[in-house]
Amino acid sequence: MDDIYNRIIAGICDRNRISSEVSLRQYLRHLQPHALKLWQSYRNDNVTVDYTDFDTQAAYLLRYYPLYAAMTRQIFEDLNQNILFSTQHIQACFFGAGPAPETVGLITYLEDNFPCLLSAQFKIYDIAADSWRHSRRITNNYLIKEYFLGLCKLNASPIDLLDINTFEPIEYDITNSMIFVFQNCLNEMGNDLNTFLKNIGFLVRKMPRRSILIIADQSNYRSSNRLMNRIESYILAMRQGNIMRSHTQGGITFQSRDLLPPIPVVIKKYLLTGEHGLIPRHSVDFNYLAFRKNAK
Ligand SMILES: C[S@@+](CC[C@H](N)C(=O)[O-])C[C@H]1O[C@@H](n2cnc3c(N)ncnc32)[C@H](O)[C@@H]1O
Repeated sequence: MDDIYNRIIAGICDRNRISSEVSLRQYLRHLQPHALKLWQSYRNDNVTVDYTDFDTQAAYLLRYYPLYAAMTRQIFEDLNQNILFSTQHIQACFFGAGPAPETVGLITYLEDNFPCLLSAQFKIYDIAADSWRHSRRITNNYLIKEYFLGLCKLNASPIDLLDINTFEPIEYDITNSMIFVFQNCLNEMGNDLNTFLKNIGFLVRKMPRRSILIIADQSNYRSSNRLMNRIESYILAMRQGNIMRSHTQGGITFQSRDLLPPIPVVIKKYLLTGEHGLIPRHSVDFNYLAFRKNAK
């Protein structure tokens, strides 16, 4: 993920019509309270964040996004020998994906490991899909197009994962996808989780044979760990396939320096300055479960 930070900065500058280093510095300074507010929100076990404002999104893109793109890539590397794609085209669905760093993690993994892949179609679902559109444009225009030589299409639709039968309208997309990812959204699901589980049940029933479902989240949220446990038991009880990787195998940690370029000086000087609540993150602790639908 060469240059991921600078590409994100270029996308943010384009969106905000920032054309000089001085204006960029001012803008990054202006983002500090947004970054602080995000950090404070993520310190709660049950997270509620209003992502509608682009400044909040920009803080997310610069602070968390590269790490979460790397997290998705790590998951696919970890599953590597169990995944074999022989097709030239792949379709994948990402739920609670917001700006969709998962797509960058997956496409860089596929680009490096499956040279036969010519095109990809990524379906992004999020309760705030409309609000995230500027950030998704950065994902598409500044990252995916740079990292993938083939043709990649991103389509986004609003979906509330807590709505009853929320996946019924997208059944066609589900039955045509081989990869399904829920990443870093479990702790935003609140407490009434029965509907969420039923929705996962629908997804598991409709997923094509041999397709893969991945549920991944930060290790340090009790709410997410509990939910991951419930999801795994729920899916197992459905007897529709195998757990390729159980969350009970425990968390995985990676250091950003091993997977990402260094954070540019301008970000460290004007946004993630090292002050309380603005300390750049250098590692990620996450856990995940992966399920594969039966071949018949
Ligand atoms: C922390 S962000 C994670 C974004 C991305 N998956 C990543 O790894 O960076 C959580 C996302 O979950 C979405 N979300 C929260 N509640 C949701 C719900 N009920 N249905 C769908 N998406 C939801 C938010 O809008 C947000 O984009």
